[in-house]
Amino acid sequence: MKLKLDYCKSKYLRLLTIAFTTTVVTSCNNTDTPAVAKSVDSTFTPPDTSTIPHDEFGDMVRYGRELLLNTAYYIGPNGTKGRYLGNKMNCSNCHLKAGTVPYGLNFFSTHARYPQYRGRENRVMTLPERVNNCIERPHNGVPMPLDNKEMIAIVSYMRWLSSNVAIGKHVPGDGAIDLAYPSRAADPTKGAQVYATHCSSCHGQNGQGQFNGDSSTYIYPPLWGDFAFECGSSMHRVLKMARFVKANMPHLKASWQKPFLTDIEAVDVAAFVVDDRIHTRPKKEKAESYSNIKNKPIDYDMGPYPDPFTEDEHKFGPYQPIIDYHKEHNLPVIF
Ligand code: HEC
Ligand code: HEC
Repeated sequence: MKLKLDYCKSKYLRLLTIAFTTTVVTSCNNTDTPAVAKSVDSTFTPPDTSTIPHDEFGDMVRYGRELLLNTAYYIGPNGTKGRYLGNKMNCSNCHLKAGTVPYGLNFFSTHARYPQYRGRENRVMTLPERVNNCIERPHNGVPMPLDNKEMIAIVSYMRWLSSNVAIGKHVPGDGAIDLAYPSRAADPTKGAQVYATHCSSCHGQNGQGQFNGDSSTYIYPPLWGDFAFECGSSMHRVLKMARFVKANMPHLKASWQKPFLTDIEAVDVAAFVVDDRIHTRPKKEKAESYSNIKNKPIDYDMGPYPDPFTEDEHKFGPYQPIIDYHKEHNLPVIF
């Protein structure tokens, strides 16, 4: 498999030359998207794996779960069932415990909400297409056929997980945790200190993570470098990562009921991890991304934007002036 690797960093070099060029595009008829979903006290309970049926559907559900937990083994760079991923991470490194942890990028209601309109692609997408988004972006890979056994197994597992969810509905705990975005810009220098104290023991001083015994996958997944998630991933957005980290990291210390870091620490450490001026990570050219620039999330770091703010301001904040501008100009506020 051939993957073109260049770096987000080059984008910043280019950025320096255009930093002061601004464009203002305004438009009407957009509805506000709520900035942050409300976290709740009790969350959805996914069905127990012992209830997976013992029939052909159940076999696919079990295989799908197995694929989420040991993705690299099956479809990684040396996969036994195909070579689709560009790195050796597993889906479960982000979609914790096969997508069953509240506020841990779970798949509680996912199957019930697809096909759905996706702002990024500006069209309705099916669930297998959405799975391929994660194979292409965080896994820096090439799309799987939409109907191969592995894809159908992953979707079957998600179908089973959403068995008790009404079509089109969310359930408590299926989004990201609340986070008060700071009034100042996120500070990668402060984040570096948080990283050294609370993250580097597992994710490594160079963000490289730690392989398992035979280097087939990770005990601790990488956060930057050639084998980490790539620039276009949602995890590369400061607020998206901060909300994941707040509820889930440091691993085994933090939980959604009892976050470990303060909100500002989570924001600063995320800013440090995804700061492409100090860290490299893969960047592939993406065919389908935000043809409608009004659909870009506030913290998305690649212009052009429908507002006069720079890529750095979008990435690190302060976010409030951007939000205010969007509201004033009837532009969506998306996180
Ligand atoms: C580096 C982290 C990371 C990895 C690895 C990863 N994803 Fe994702 N995935 C995300 C993030 C972040 C989102 C966006 C969630 C959101 O928008 O709130 C997401 C969203 C999704 C969604 C949409 C969920 C929904 O409810 O709308 C699906 C489906 C999905 N991922 C499947 C997968 C599969 C299958 C794999 C493994 C092949 C995988 N992901 C690997 C980070 C990751
Ligand atoms: C005790 C070890 C440990 C510590 C400390 C730790 N993590 Fe993690 N982290 C993990 C493990 C393990 C996973 C994958 C979870 C899984 O596979 O179930 C993970 C996953 C992640 C992910 C998503 C996967 C990826 O590689 O992109 C991010 C982001 C992350 N950690 C950030 C952090 C940050 C930021 C800190 C510090 C605040 C931190 N972690 C501290 C062990 C740790």
